[in-house]
Amino acid sequence: MAKIKSEFRCSECGWTTYKWVGQCGECQGWDTLTESTSAPKEVKAARISNNQIARPITQIPEDAQGHRPTGVSEFDRVLGGGLVAGATILLSGEPGVGKSTLLLEVAARLAKTGSKVLYVSAEESAGQVRLRAQRTNALVDTLYLASETDLSAVLGQFAAVQPDLVIVDSVQTVSSAEIDGAAGMPAQVREVASNLIRLAKANSVPLMLVGHVTKDGSIAGPRVLEHLVDVVCHFEGDRQTSLRFIRTLKNRFGPTDEVGCFEMTSEGISEVPDPSQLFVSGSQNLVSGSCITVTVEGRRSLIAEIQALVVKTNSPQPRRVTNGVDSSRVAMLLAVLERRAGISLMDKDVYVSTVGGMKITEPAADLAIAIALASAVTDKPVPHGTAAFGEISLSGEIRGVTNGKQRANEASRLGHKTIIDSSSSQLKAAIRLAIG
Ligand code: TYD
Ligand code: MG
Repeated sequence: MAKIKSEFRCSECGWTTYKWVGQCGECQGWDTLTESTSAPKEVKAARISNNQIARPITQIPEDAQGHRPTGVSEFDRVLGGGLVAGATILLSGEPGVGKSTLLLEVAARLAKTGSKVLYVSAEESAGQVRLRAQRTNALVDTLYLASETDLSAVLGQFAAVQPDLVIVDSVQTVSSAEIDGAAGMPAQVREVASNLIRLAKANSVPLMLVGHVTKDGSIAGPRVLEHLVDVVCHFEGDRQTSLRFIRTLKNRFGPTDEVGCFEMTSEGISEVPDPSQLFVSGSQNLVSGSCITVTVEGRRSLIAEIQALVVKTNSPQPRRVTNGVDSSRVAMLLAVLERRAGISLMDKDVYVSTVGGMKITEPAADLAIAIALASAVTDKPVPHGTAAFGEISLSGEIRGVTNGKQRANEASRLGHKTIIDSSSSQLKAAIRLAIG
């Protein structure tokens, strides 16, 4: 006899689990799970018609998935070439990072090539979007604006305009009258997204959805949203700086390790095809306490500058202030410098910072941080044209890092002829090489 299994289902969002829990794992509602017992039903094998029987993979014709460039090349790079007919792209990001600005730019660029683009704003009025478009030079006749928050109205707009691209800003602010609950609730987001995706697939029209993020940075709404869409892009950047990055977290049609780089300006968003120059001070004077390194973001290598300042102090607890680099990593490097290279900073305040708001989390920057600190404390500048990268172990050894060749190429492309890396196996030797 078939075994009877209990299932618990959330009455708010439909999430199911086989174990009773007090809180729904999806909508986080308390005490919303109800038990249902169902015996698994036996399913009979269906007759499959001849032309649908599974075939060897080599005999299956390829799906032609042409990427159509949007004209915003940094975005196309991230998408793997551009938009794919019928595919859905979810663009997530914090409020104010520039999602609407970017998608309006994409819409306008595509519209300028003669394509019809429908931009549905569920957050701003059409007048507000027009105002922004005026500022960013996005007034094009084939760009259609609608301000709708009801799903059936959005579907109606689609049918009326028959666009070549649909943008919905955002999936959390559109709601369906068929579903209980306010816009943004998991059940609503699922319903809205799946209807729009079905529409896009049926009409072979690319769809772009804006997605809100929660406080911890994940996409708001049901987890299933990420499964439903073909591409998930995350738009990120520091509010203090104008630089923005787009990364792909999922891409059914291209790479997921590409990074697109943009800058927010008063005339909208502009592409930054060569971001390396942004993270170096470009000073012609040789000052001590500075070292160039190369970091890798996705597939892209970027030149960055580490600056260090050390100041004598009598405080029993000298200050360690960092900006853009991990403070515990700097603390570790200070210890390694003292024990393995004989450079003591016990009686000094230490400040370490990157240039241009760059955030470096990879250990490949260890060597440049250590050299910048050594240069600061000895007051000997690192000569122009020197770049350093490598991970430093507790024993003072320099370890090789991923993409070493790519980093060295980027450094030499920008005129850095002396590369200090794991070929100097010990920190002491590397410091000697850098500052003599
Ligand atoms: P927006 O695209 O509305 O962000 P999101 O849709 O992600 O919430 O962008 C809002 C910010 O972008 C706002 O703080 C101002 C800035 N911005 C510019 O710097 N330049 C511009 O041309 C525009 C339109 C906005
Ligand atoms: Mg917006």
